[in-house]
Amino acid sequence: MIDAQKINSEFSIAWKHQLFCTQNAFRKDGEVNCVLSDLRPSKIMVVIDRGIVDANKEYVRKVTSWIKTTATTCFPLHVVQGGEEAKTNDSVVESILGAINELGMCRNSVILAIGGGAMLDAVGFATSTAHRGLHLIRMPSTSLSACDSGVGVKNGINKYNKKNFVGVFDPPYAVINDYDLLLSLDDRHWFSGMSEVIKVALVKSPELFKQTKAAVALVQNRDIETMAELMTTSATIHLKHITEGGDPFERLDARPLDFGHWAAHKLEQMTNHELTHGEAVSIGLAIDLQCSVELGHLDQKIADEAIALLHAFNLPTKHPMMHDPELIHGIEEFREHLGGRLTILLLEDIGEPIEVHELSESVVKHAIDRLSL
Ligand SMILES: NC(=O)c1ccc[n+]([C@@H]2O[C@H](COP(=O)([O-])OP(=O)(O)OC[C@H]3O[C@@H](n4cnc5c(N)ncnc54)[C@H](O)[C@@H]3O)[C@@H](O)[C@H]2O)c1
Ligand SMILES: [Zn+2]
Repeated sequence: MIDAQKINSEFSIAWKHQLFCTQNAFRKDGEVNCVLSDLRPSKIMVVIDRGIVDANKEYVRKVTSWIKTTATTCFPLHVVQGGEEAKTNDSVVESILGAINELGMCRNSVILAIGGGAMLDAVGFATSTAHRGLHLIRMPSTSLSACDSGVGVKNGINKYNKKNFVGVFDPPYAVINDYDLLLSLDDRHWFSGMSEVIKVALVKSPELFKQTKAAVALVQNRDIETMAELMTTSATIHLKHITEGGDPFERLDARPLDFGHWAAHKLEQMTNHELTHGEAVSIGLAIDLQCSVELGHLDQKIADEAIALLHAFNLPTKHPMMHDPELIHGIEEFREHLGGRLTILLLEDIGEPIEVHELSESVVKHAIDRLSL
């Protein structure tokens, strides 16, 4: 007879997470060389979003000449599909896994990924799973990825028509925001990330809300310095939330930085990604702001002020699809994705969120009707 035993033990691992905000990061004394000199990898592969290759030849020239001169073994530039398609099929993940295999890259090798949020999610997923994880350096190239997703610890792709169904939590070794990359964005993607800046401001920072309001005209005029300041502030608050918020791998119910996201993810799916993530977040924020009002938590004037700020950055706060009864299923899908109890964040004031554990269909409907006026 064997005595049943239970052996408990606990361990923790310290993660390092570093964010650099800069311009011209591939210069000789720049952040790319600085990060790599700490890491001393055996091999490097630079992966780039096709959208940058098409729109920013000058940046691509800088990267290719850096590849030629770097001392470490660095393979030719690896170009992959950008945009949501990078996450909706397996081709980007397959191409990265295949290259890691063929080039004999090991756990001491580096994948340096330059691209938008979708491509970074897919490349990050492949990098985290090959050999159970190579080093990843992310260089976000859109406003949304520079202010939000780039510093996040999540990687993944969509499956079964559900956003981020397959993925892992795995912090990158470093994130380098090179704001030169943003110069080649079309207007739509230049503004798209402003919804995430406003989200961070609404949930965590009345100062950032004021700063964003004051920046409207300059951002409209594509002033890169103003944009860079907003990106850096938002990314820093985001990073602080991850490293000091007590739940970096999202094991608890509350996800403050998912404000507005239950509806956003559902609308992206329902519109077959005709809406960008940033645009869908803008509509999702408007819905949750108005739900906060409907439930008596938030003053209508504050909701209107935030909605006006979204409009000032050309962001939508309504869409025909939001009247489709399918939208409400987004709440259940959100609960399923989070695991456990439903927790939705609403607002009492700017910088003062509250958590609710249910949101009725009639409240959402009233909110949507008000937004449609
Ligand atoms: N992992 C996370 O924590 C997290 C958080 C928020 C959002 N996301 C994900 O990010 C994705 C959205 O990312 P996005 O808004 O960055 O858009 P995106 O990655 O879909 O890119 C948009 C378009 O811009 C192009 N592009 C990229 N950089 C460019 C540049 N510098 N110049 C010209 N064109 C360029 C791309 O090729 C693409 O066509 C969504 O899939 C969303 O789910 C992930
Ligand atoms: Zn988001």
